[in-house]
Amino acid sequence: MVRNKECLGEVVDLFCGAGALSHGLKLAGMNILAGYDLDARCKHAFESNNNADFFARDVAKLSAKEIRRHFSGKAPSVLAGCAPCQPFSSYKQRYDEDPQWGLVAEFAKLAVKVRPDFVTMENVPALARYKNGKVFEEFRDRLTGAGYQLQWTIAKCEEYGVPQKRRRLVVIAARSTELRPLTPSHSPAVSVQEAIGHLPKLSAGETDPTDPLHTASSLSPVNLRRIKASKPGGTWRDWPQSLRAPCHRRSTGKTYPGVYARMVWSEPAPTMTTQCYGFGNGRFGHPVQHRAISLREAAILQSFPNDYNFLPTDEKVSFTEVGRWIGNAVPVKLAEAIGRVIIESFLASHQ
Ligand SMILES: C[S@@+](CC[C@H](N)C(=O)[O-])C[C@H]1O[C@@H](n2cnc3c(N)ncnc32)[C@H](O)[C@@H]1O
Repeated sequence: MVRNKECLGEVVDLFCGAGALSHGLKLAGMNILAGYDLDARCKHAFESNNNADFFARDVAKLSAKEIRRHFSGKAPSVLAGCAPCQPFSSYKQRYDEDPQWGLVAEFAKLAVKVRPDFVTMENVPALARYKNGKVFEEFRDRLTGAGYQLQWTIAKCEEYGVPQKRRRLVVIAARSTELRPLTPSHSPAVSVQEAIGHLPKLSAGETDPTDPLHTASSLSPVNLRRIKASKPGGTWRDWPQSLRAPCHRRSTGKTYPGVYARMVWSEPAPTMTTQCYGFGNGRFGHPVQHRAISLREAAILQSFPNDYNFLPTDEKVSFTEVGRWIGNAVPVKLAEAIGRVIIESFLASHQ
């Protein structure tokens, strides 16, 4: 790969997925060197948007030597990583234990062996409480014990230019550099209309001929009637009785009111999940069109650039696969803000 000499900072991204975290760091001005992920299908998106090499590998089986060989020695070196969030979701914590929780510790172990100038990690806020806070405490102890100064915060993504309400745990750690704080940059938040209002109209089940990712999932006849009866920001309670599902009709009324709902044009979107392309999966109805948001709209609500390239031109788009990449992503603009903190901290300490 030909690297950009103007860039400041060299990044290796573990658990890189489709490359959103890397892309934000690249937009902040860094060179992305390599990304590692178990999902080999991420290769196209990661490489084509980040001018970097992708390796389909299990991070738990990586050695520090393998990671270190990417860095040229030019400071600052950055090891970025966003281990899977699923083990820390409240559902998982209640019903069973996902062995992937150990990947957070694997990342910390690799980080102290690689000894980059900066380490950054993003995850769900619930990680900080998992196993009574022990997993996160051990993560912090490993890094501070190896001489890193560490800051962590629960970031509200809408305060960083992401058109979406999403809370994320962000960790930035530095060796030999005084860290600047991650500070909000956007108020008021970017709205759904500002983010996706310019996209061509679609019907449920339709794909924009100019952009295969601007594709909306189809709706059954009853769900089409339901979305027509849905109000932006409302719930299924706005529907006539005849359209309500049996669980909605129960006298207890104990169901989650958020599913089957439309977004509101003037507000940021709700948290994008891996299933954000389905009307029945959350507040993922388009504010005014009778359909769920398209994959392209979901990507833009995660602050991916409008033309982020997820798949080769001739490849069929799978809602499940691309939805997973989008829902799992670190919002690009949050990643860019993390990158700016790293660069500004480095420059302030080394001038
Ligand atoms: C939260 S996502 C990362 C999102 C990515 N940083 C982005 O911004 O687009 C977690 C990723 O970890 C990957 N993964 C899970 N277990 C892994 C392992 N043992 N080794 C490498 N990657 C793994 C998943 O395939 C998934 O892409």
